[in-house]
Amino acid sequence: MSQSTQYSTLNTQYSILIMSDIFDKIKELTEEIENSLVQSVEEIEQFRIKYLGTKNIIKPLFGEIRNVANERKKEFGQAVNALKQKAEAKFDGFKEELEANASDEEAKSIDLTAPGIAEQLGSRHPVSIVMNRMVEIFSRIGFNVAQDREIEDDWHNFTALNTPEDHPARDMQDTYYLLNDPERLLRTHTSSVQVRVMDYQKPPIRVICPGRVYRNETISARAHCQFHQVEGLYIAEKVSFADLKQTIEYFAKEMFGHQTKIRVRPSFFPFTEPSVEVDVSCFICGGDGCNVCKYTSWVEIGGCGMVDPKVLENCGIDSDKYTGFAFGMGVERIAMLKYQINDIRLLFENDVRFLQQFEAGL
Ligand code: PHE
Repeated sequence: MSQSTQYSTLNTQYSILIMSDIFDKIKELTEEIENSLVQSVEEIEQFRIKYLGTKNIIKPLFGEIRNVANERKKEFGQAVNALKQKAEAKFDGFKEELEANASDEEAKSIDLTAPGIAEQLGSRHPVSIVMNRMVEIFSRIGFNVAQDREIEDDWHNFTALNTPEDHPARDMQDTYYLLNDPERLLRTHTSSVQVRVMDYQKPPIRVICPGRVYRNETISARAHCQFHQVEGLYIAEKVSFADLKQTIEYFAKEMFGHQTKIRVRPSFFPFTEPSVEVDVSCFICGGDGCNVCKYTSWVEIGGCGMVDPKVLENCGIDSDKYTGFAFGMGVERIAMLKYQINDIRLLFENDVRFLQQFEAGL
């Protein structure tokens, strides 16, 4: 049988090749693979399709084995396998090269001399800055900090503080009550915390109560329905109004500067008697008159007075033995004075451009 007839029945692209040709073909493909060069991902893919894809050009050669003379079958099989492995090795090489190049490219695109991106530092809220400062000033003269719930009952917010139902003084603090529960409300001041302290602690008591409070006020540049207070309470034997003034004066000088003076004006709170409103000398103009003090030389910072004996009795404290003073200050008000902020709403909107200005603290 001649070699040409040997292949005549084959239905492959190599069917017309004679025996020596088919070994030549393997050699030719081997060289072709060895010499292959690729420039791009697309060319690697073309290589894969040609030599390793489902219809690759090596596959038909495996079928040729049945047409190869027995004594050369082994040699032929090894040659085709070697060809296939060559294609696989080449392809793996291309892939590795591509990956190496890609990370090279990436590395080249990093500019090591470029300045870094600065981390954005957060800043403390002005209300927190002022509140922390107030707490710190009072802690230095022995006041402890007490905090408690914002949803209060009527007793702790009003009745224990000598403000029974229908007392006209309740109108001073427009109250948010919880729906369907006239007994529960959002505290209108942190005096409620002082009542709770008196519930579980016996005199001497020296405590400040920082915290958020709520009042149903129309929101404007000067008023908000939520704000913060630092209230204080001192109960011991023989506490006098002079002690109160001394304490407030110490606070004012620490907070606004040592040249600061205080004055008190008679006022009314149901839980203190006598009651006064406290002004500090204007720390902006020093008394010459300016926008902050509205040309009066004084700015109001809060209310205070001697604890009404009725309140002490309501809280189980012997009012014959003990006396005390209480004070309350609005944190936003002091922050606004200190930083000359003319609209309280800015303190609740949390616009970063506004808040960023307080990074340096007080
Ligand atoms: N609780 C009062 C208020 O919120 C402030 C205050 C506290 C006044 C203690 C006198 C004594 O307005």
